[in-house]
Amino acid sequence: MSILPHGGQLVNRIAEDKERESLMEAVPGMPAVTLNPREQADLLMLATGAMSPLDGFMGRDDYLSVLDLKRLANGLPWRLPVTLAVAEEVADRLAEDSDVALRAPAGTLLGVLHLREKYPVDKEAEAEKVLLTTDERHPGVQYLQGTGNCYLGGRITLLHRPPNSPFANYLLDPRETRLLFKLRGWHTVVAFQTRNPIHRAHEYILKCALESVDGLLVHPLVGETKADDIPADVRMRCYDALLQNYFPKTRTVISVFPAAMRYAGPREAVFHALVRKNYGCTHLIVGRDHAGVGNFYGPFDAHLIFREFEPEEIGIQPMFFDNTFFCRTCQQMASAKTCPHDSERHLALSGTRLRELLARGEYPPAELSRPEVAAILIEHTRGRVNET
Ligand code: ADX
Repeated sequence: MSILPHGGQLVNRIAEDKERESLMEAVPGMPAVTLNPREQADLLMLATGAMSPLDGFMGRDDYLSVLDLKRLANGLPWRLPVTLAVAEEVADRLAEDSDVALRAPAGTLLGVLHLREKYPVDKEAEAEKVLLTTDERHPGVQYLQGTGNCYLGGRITLLHRPPNSPFANYLLDPRETRLLFKLRGWHTVVAFQTRNPIHRAHEYILKCALESVDGLLVHPLVGETKADDIPADVRMRCYDALLQNYFPKTRTVISVFPAAMRYAGPREAVFHALVRKNYGCTHLIVGRDHAGVGNFYGPFDAHLIFREFEPEEIGIQPMFFDNTFFCRTCQQMASAKTCPHDSERHLALSGTRLRELLARGEYPPAELSRPEVAAILIEHTRGRVNET
């Protein structure tokens, strides 16, 4: 039997047949709101059940409860707001208990919001409670500063998927990943969240995890990330190169995770776990500084936060990993749990370190990156230098 979605049932808010026809007829008479890339990604995930039990953008009760109690208003664990922001003058034109068309910036119709309520937002309080900082250097704080002061809450219905997804071939909805795992006969599946080009520490923890479960879902986040992160299309080529050359095909699946990165560290780790449960995964890798940025979170805060809930409330099992590095004496990847040697013998591995080497035009060494992956990253970096 496969793992139950969060809240027990997979939400489906994709309009079909009659519902679709009647909404399409009504749309021209509706006021419209334009969604930014993060909101478009959230809309898709709400509609496909990735955010179950959420079936729309959060109303005030859920929003405040998530901020203060770390749970939805019905008591289920949930750690990140999922909200739709507009400027006050836009909100003034919208009536509660009416339908609002949701559009992409070019005007493309995406869906409908069945607007239940509009409410003002205290962004400082949200930043403090969700990101644990109001420091303007935090990308999540910058995002909040760029959005409107009013949130719109209500169920959504999807009419068209957000356009121009460059990763359409890799996009599997939760229903599809669940079916795939079933067809493969996998009872236990570990998900890997990542927003960085894949390096040897990633490969090591993936392989350690794969030793004790049936299958691996590499689930790179391809929604908005901060400007200095490596673009998703380059990362996708890196993941493919690693999987094709170093992983058994029968035990791995790669598919994209449409979400934007919040950089909310520990809180985002819980969000990543609950959402991957909806995709049918039984385990999630949580390593060092999961979903972190700069020094805003402690390296293992994302491990500790899971203690705030009973394991059965979360359902999916986090697989925690200590900081892993290459040990020149062991001549292999290790962590302080498995290696007795002095830290001078250790080569630290992280996305930040990889980006620094590339920025200096240096080829990442074999201990840091597989040559097939390094070649893609070097090509990307040279291309960027030539452009400027
Ligand atoms: S994240 O923002 O998606 O967490 P990244 O893609 O770098 O960033 O990390 C993916 C996963 O690998 C996270 O669970 C992270 O904690 C883990 N990870 C990355 N580097 C290391 C490392 N050197 N040691 C242990 N875990 C790591």
